[in-house]
Amino acid sequence: MTNKKENILQIIRADIVNGLVKPGQKLPSIRMQSRRFGCSLNTVISVYQELEKQYLIYSRPKSGYFVVAKEALLPLLQTKRIDFASAAPDPASIPQTDFRQCLNKAMELFETSIFTYPDPQGLLSLREEIAKLFQQQQVFPSARQVFIFSGAQQALHLLAGMPFPNGKTNILVEQPTYWGMLAALKSQRQTVIGVERTPDGIDWAALERHFQSNQIKFFYTIPRFQNPLGTSYTAEDKRKLAELAKAHDVYIVEDDYLGDLETDRKADPIHAYNGAGHVIYLRSFSKVMLPGLRLAAAAVPDSFVPVLQWHKHSADLSTSVLSQGVLEIYMKSGMYAHHAQEMKSLYNKRIQHLKEVSNRFLPKDCLYTVPSSGGLFASIRLPDSVYAEDLVSRLENRGVDVLSADRHFLSTFPKPHLLRISIIRTDERDIEEGIRIIAEELERTPITSSSPKPFFRL
Ligand SMILES: Cc1ncc(COP(=O)(O)O)c(C=O)c1O
Repeated sequence: MTNKKENILQIIRADIVNGLVKPGQKLPSIRMQSRRFGCSLNTVISVYQELEKQYLIYSRPKSGYFVVAKEALLPLLQTKRIDFASAAPDPASIPQTDFRQCLNKAMELFETSIFTYPDPQGLLSLREEIAKLFQQQQVFPSARQVFIFSGAQQALHLLAGMPFPNGKTNILVEQPTYWGMLAALKSQRQTVIGVERTPDGIDWAALERHFQSNQIKFFYTIPRFQNPLGTSYTAEDKRKLAELAKAHDVYIVEDDYLGDLETDRKADPIHAYNGAGHVIYLRSFSKVMLPGLRLAAAAVPDSFVPVLQWHKHSADLSTSVLSQGVLEIYMKSGMYAHHAQEMKSLYNKRIQHLKEVSNRFLPKDCLYTVPSSGGLFASIRLPDSVYAEDLVSRLENRGVDVLSADRHFLSTFPKPHLLRISIIRTDERDIEEGIRIIAEELERTPITSSSPKPFFRL
């Protein structure tokens, strides 16, 4: 099929899928379609014949072509879905046999600990391993400064609720930011202030103003492969953040949830620019290992240790010793380093492919960003005339699951219309097909002159 014919087919198919022509309704005549697409009558006839073969339409002699009934249409539309929404690892990418072996070994090695409540801060032997892992990112805590949490979400929840040495009470977050942090803050009725972050970086003037005059206890930031934007801070940004934190006695909670997926060896975290002073450095093991293990680790300044121990203990007495045991064995055997390397290269390939197909298919005036050195997320800024939720439901009808970034914003903060694309549960074919469908849906809504100020760079 020629490109032109394929395009026409996809557009008419989308008319049916999106309900612009309803089940049982007559399709526009061949002559009308040929005028609409500026093509020959034969091209339209051949497209209609192809749609007939796909059982989406049927012809009635001397009457024209009709969309099949709803009952017949639905199963045809429920083809394999393209998942740009999930943020949990692809089961196919997880070495389940290795994990099972580590689990058996953990039962054996930690038999006595299973019958007790272990150290709320985490197994000392695991904390020593984590301290070594952090060193690869230029973060050098002692085992005493390392805490194991039941997921990064628990760490964020506890940090939000506990007192900090600066005695301040308000929390500053990037806008947009990880929705789970917003939920943790809301559930504890914390006072939260937002500061705009775009792919070009943070609004420095606003950030400094807040640091200076708004009693900021800590600034929660995701410097690397931000969720939902996908972008990272530059080295200069991180150095400046570290300096400002020190100058204004504001702590930084640095959520490096995807630290394992970095392909740029020079991309150090903010902690590397600030020593142990004002940065709490946090890593999750959910994306490279399994979210179900519920494991994360943090390096905290010395002064935090006793207070955080108390808060961790009061939250859950301790993190599951079996999960900790699995991670420790996995790390000590060298399997973790090998697996993390594989995940990094798998996801980076997908991200590079996403970048290539986005450049190829997305409308020229569409603003989007795909990270250059790995990660899981990319984002598309929609024109003001397109509501993210509308587009999400149109895409859902076409078999593409994607999320609007609305929940990543505080309710009080102005929200741009933003889609988050996750590549974690895709393959190269899904990425190409999914972006092509998004591009088609975007092209159906012309970008008007009231489009927003440029927000995204390529
Ligand atoms: C930025 C960010 N931080 C923290 C978390 C929570 O991680 P965990 O599963 O370790 O609780 C997520 C989960 O997706 C996340 O995206």
